[in-house]
Amino acid sequence: MDRFVINGGARLKGKIRIDGAKNAALPIMAAALLSDGPNVIHGVPDLADVRFMGEVLGDVGARVTRDPNGDLHLSVDDEADSHAKYDRVRKMRASVCVLGPLLAKRKRARVSLPGGCQIGPRPIDLHLRGLKALGAEIELDGGDIIATCKKLRGAHIFLGGPFGSTVLGTANVMMAATLAEGRTVIESAACEPEVEDLADYLNAMGARISGAGTPRLTIDGVDKLRGAEHHVIPDRIEAGTFLVAAAITNGELTLQNCRLEHLMAVVDRLQNIGVQIDQEGGDVVVSSSRRLEPTDVTTQPFPGFPTDLQAQLMTLLCLADGNSVITEKIYPDRFMHVAELMRMGANIRREGPTAVVTGVKRLIGAPVMASDLRASAALVLAGLVARGATVIQRVYHIDRGYEAIEAKLASVGADITRVSD
Ligand code: EPU
Repeated sequence: MDRFVINGGARLKGKIRIDGAKNAALPIMAAALLSDGPNVIHGVPDLADVRFMGEVLGDVGARVTRDPNGDLHLSVDDEADSHAKYDRVRKMRASVCVLGPLLAKRKRARVSLPGGCQIGPRPIDLHLRGLKALGAEIELDGGDIIATCKKLRGAHIFLGGPFGSTVLGTANVMMAATLAEGRTVIESAACEPEVEDLADYLNAMGARISGAGTPRLTIDGVDKLRGAEHHVIPDRIEAGTFLVAAAITNGELTLQNCRLEHLMAVVDRLQNIGVQIDQEGGDVVVSSSRRLEPTDVTTQPFPGFPTDLQAQLMTLLCLADGNSVITEKIYPDRFMHVAELMRMGANIRREGPTAVVTGVKRLIGAPVMASDLRASAALVLAGLVARGATVIQRVYHIDRGYEAIEAKLASVGADITRVSD
């Protein structure tokens, strides 16, 4: 198992290119199951989760290859086996987004019910509610969801849940509706840029989707979808992580392939505490040169502050000049990083879904444990600024969502190395 060793204290300076978005690429890969021809997807990062998704798709008859330019080629060879098994789904919850495409294209899907994960319980009741509204029959057998239909029919569906909209739920129902008969309207649809990117790809395949990026999606069903070529949007969470990396080290980074319109709430909070962020031509320049102010932040569905950057912002606020309040409204238990940050000297008090962060003068390097993807990113950020050495165990969590983060950070001056056992 690999670990990172980070000697803190370097001011980061230089250019970093942001990769394509993991959370756009995964459902887009699953959507290729709907097509009757070859697909080429550009800008898919080379991540553990992308490889997992390739394996899930391979199990259900798709061929997924990466060419020497890094482009992903996907086509479906064989539609006989439509079973996404527990061993795969358990490793990556996003595998559940093969459900909608398999059901729509093959009229049957068997997908292992994903369990909870480190960030708390993650139900899929809304996915199933939406598919049922389109006419699917759903039963549970041996921990698998078995979804079947004679024909999917368009419907008017409310897809909101107790925590607001659902990203992959919207993706699943939208994908299924592309091949349903008639019109589907999804109300309270997720507005995340990744959903819009998926809709753009589906439309390139011949689907008829409008309203993507708003809470009302309209999908007019078509008989067939062809293969298509698509460029995945830049990863706003990777970009947000590097914005924090520049801020926390009092450094200056130029981010290429970064779309600030996907990061409005993050930019708002960072500017509010004293971080400088400017668009310069196609690039984004972020810098900080002083101790930052505290702030309050609540995670929300897009365009609100993303839960996937909550841990990283918390690390930054550990060093702000006063008390900050962070409320997690999407995953109320997503606080695995708190205990590890406290081992490095942070002062954080958690009460239910809220954490009160009292800024300290410095963090101190320590051996810490990565627990999930974004919590691990938060620990890397802490290590960059901590006094002394920080050793982060189990970095396979971070490899799921950040391609070569240590190489990118080292290229702008960080003292970080990967050590393999
Ligand atoms: N929810 C339900 N019922 C459902 C589905 C969701 O109650 O059927 C609840 C969830 O428990 C949560 C909220 O709705 O409280 C939102 O969950 P959502 O369904 O939007 O999450 P997801 O689609 O499973 C994606 C990302 C996550 C990201 C969330 C929220 C992918 C592959 N995953 O998950 O990304 O945190 O949206 O933005 O797109 C990550 O990249 O680290 C990550 C966890």
